[in-house]
This record gives sequence, structure tokens and C-alpha cells, in this order.
Amino acid sequence: MVDFFEAIYRRRSVRRFKREKIPEEAVRRIMEAGRAAPTDATLHLWSAVWVRDEAKKAEIAKLISQPHVEEGSDFFVFLADLYRLEELLRYRGRQLASNRLALFVFAAVDAALAAENMALAATAMGYGSCFIGAVQNAVEELVELLRLPRLAYPLFGLVVGVPDEEPPPRPRLPLEMLFHREEYRPYSEESLAAAYEVMARVTRSGDWLRLLERYAGAGGYFDRRSELMTAVLRKMGVM
Ligand SMILES: Cc1cc2nc3c(=O)[nH]c(=O)nc-3n(C[C@H](O)[C@H](O)[C@H](O)COP(=O)(O)O)c2cc1C
Repeated sequence: MVDFFEAIYRRRSVRRFKREKIPEEAVRRIMEAGRAAPTDATLHLWSAVWVRDEAKKAEIAKLISQPHVEEGSDFFVFLADLYRLEELLRYRGRQLASNRLALFVFAAVDAALAAENMALAATAMGYGSCFIGAVQNAVEELVELLRLPRLAYPLFGLVVGVPDEEPPPRPRLPLEMLFHREEYRPYSEESLAAAYEVMARVTRSGDWLRLLERYAGAGGYFDRRSELMTAVLRKMGVM
């Protein structure tokens, strides 16, 4: 077992795993760490589907083009779970809010907190993990495969397993760019240049812009995903 800060700084996204199962008891311990995370207004807006079955894990890995999901021991698909909330209210004769945007946003916060607790617990126990936003590559297929009810939207995944690599620490933006002291401080041209410099080594090309553009630029990945996300959220009754 490692010290708290050691777990934080030692955690990396691990994308190569040994084909070994984590003992179920250890996985449950990791899940308990997720359960201990804070939750907005005690609502527990999240749940997760735990996929341990090899065939199902392989199928998901293929669907979302993430081979490390197959290699890892266990995969969790985190859900914004407004369905359980609706059920709890229905059980006592009440209805779920009709404008669900804020519930959805805070469900994503709840889920992220639980998942990060789990990633840190896994690190502390000597295991590796990787968040998988690529579940967005096949949301509708996952809804079918995991039999998700309406109002239970798959947000992201977390794969955990026995690591087969020790990646170096990946760069982060400087502290001053992430935290504004007392009030928001617009970014100077120098600070923007410094950001590109510090992040250069995350891409093979050495230019972080390529990655920013591919994901967040006009017509990029998130532009396209947002369209599908809106359609599925409507279909599932979230929006
Ligand atoms: C919400 C979220 C989604 C992510 N999705 C993926 C993914 O689909 N596939 C993947 O290999 N890594 C994914 N990552 C891992 C990031 O690429 C990684 O955290 C980042 O490059 C920093 O590296 P580090 O975690 O090793 O510090 C995701 C991380 C987060 C927080």
C-alpha cells in the first residue's frame, strides 16, 4: 500500500496490461473506494456496469476500438443514471424533474469523482487503470449490449488491470494556468506559447495543436460526437 500523494503522482493511464485477472475481492475493494466518493445532494446520480466477462470485454473493446479494454482485467462503464432516481421517486409516487440538464451535468461530476477514487485505489494497490472516453464511439451499441434502460447514459469507462508498462509522467499545464487567483485572469500570448511548449511532447509530431484541433477544433471529434450525444440523450429521455 502506498502513501496518498504517491498514489496521486504515480497514477498514469496504463494501456498495456498482463492477461491476468485481479482477484475479485481486490476489485470489490476498488469499487468500495468509488462508493465512498462524494455525491451531489446525496442523490447518487451515477452507477456503473462492471464487465469482468472476457467475451463481453472483448466485444466492447472492438466496438470502441480500444484494445487495452480487452487486455485489462475489469472494465467499468460509468453511467449518468437518472433512471434509478426516477425509480426511487416513482416508488414513492413522485416524478423526476422534467428539465434534466443540471441533473445530467452533476451526474457526470458524481461519476467522475467515483471513477477517480477507483483509479487511485487501483494505483495504491499496485494495479493500473485508464479512463475510456471512447465509449462515446459506440453509445447506442453499448446501450443494447449492456441493456441500459432509458435515462441511463454511458459517460465513460474505466479499465483496471495488472500493468504491463510503466509510462512516464505526462505533462500538465502550469499551475498558474489552471488556477486563477481570486478572479479569472485572461491568458497572455506568452502563457499560450508556454502551454504549447510544455504540452509539445504529448504528441508524436511535437505540436499539441494537432491534437487540440483533431479533438476540440471546428469539425473535430467532439463536434461530431456532440451531435450524436444530443440525439441519444433525447432518445433516452435525458434531454
Ligand atoms: C474523461 C477521460 C477520457 C479518456 N479517454 C481515453 C480513451 O478513450 N482512451 C485512452 O486510451 N485514454 C483515455 N484517457 C486518458 C488520457 O488520455 C490521459 O489521462 C491523458 O493523456 C494524461 O495522461 P495520464 O493519465 O497518464 O496522466 C481519458 C482520460 C479522461 C480523463
